[in-house]
Amino acid sequence: MEKRIAIAIDGPAAAGKSTVAKAVAKRLGFIYIDTGAMYRAFTWYVMHKGLDPKDEAASCSLIPEVDIDLRDDGTVLICGHDVTRAIREPQVSGNVSYIASYKEIRLALIEMQRILATRGSVVMDGRDIGSYVLPNAQVKIFQIASVETRAERRYKENVEKGIPTSLEDVIADVKKRDYIDSHRDFDPLTQAEDAVPLDTSYMTIEESVDAVLKIVKEKVGVSPIC
Ligand code: DC
Repeated sequence: MEKRIAIAIDGPAAAGKSTVAKAVAKRLGFIYIDTGAMYRAFTWYVMHKGLDPKDEAASCSLIPEVDIDLRDDGTVLICGHDVTRAIREPQVSGNVSYIASYKEIRLALIEMQRILATRGSVVMDGRDIGSYVLPNAQVKIFQIASVETRAERRYKENVEKGIPTSLEDVIADVKKRDYIDSHRDFDPLTQAEDAVPLDTSYMTIEESVDAVLKIVKEKVGVSPIC
C-alpha cells in the first residue's frame, strides 16, 4: 500500500492558506481539508439554532447532533444544510473565534479531522494542524503575511463574492481573530517546532504555491502530477 502523506498548512487569519492549500492539493492529487470551514459551519449552526456563540454551554450542547460534510467540490454541509456561502458572511467570521475557543467543540472537530486524514494523502489547513491535529504530518508549513496584506486580500475576496464589508472592518476582524486564536487556553494558534515558516506578504498565489511545492519536494520527494 502506498504511504499516506499529510501536509499541514497553519497560520493566522486570512494569510491565504486555503487558496494555497487547495491549489497545492490539486497539483499533488491530494485531498484538501479546510478545517476553518468546520469551525465556521459549527458557528453558523449555533446561530441558526438561535443560540449565542458567546454562550459556551449552549454552543457545546449541539455537539451530539452536529454532522459536517466537506465535499470534494468545496461544498460545506452541516446537518444537511448547504452553508458553503453563508459561512463566509461577516456574522459568522465575527463569531467563529468564540466557537473555536471551546475545548469540547475543538475536540469533537479534531476527531472528525483525524478521521478525514485517514482517507488518503491530504493537505489540511488550519491553526493547529501541525501542532496538535496531525503532529506526525511529514510536511508542516506556517504561512504568514502582514495584517495589512491579509486584510486587503480578504477585503478583495469579499467584494468579489458580493459580501458587504469595509476595509476597516476587515482589518479589525483580522486583528481580533488573531488575538483570540493565539490567546485561547486550549490548543491556541501556534507554529509547530518543526514547521517551515513561509511569509507570503510579497508573493503572488502562484509563487506561494510553488514555494510550498518546493518544500514538499525537499521533505518527502513528491512532485506535482499537474
Ligand atoms: O481559516 P478560517 O478563517 O476559515 O478559520 C475560521 C476560524 O476557525 C478562525 O478564527 C480560527 C478557527 N480555526 C481554528 O481555531 N483551528 C483550525 N484548525 C481552523 C480554524
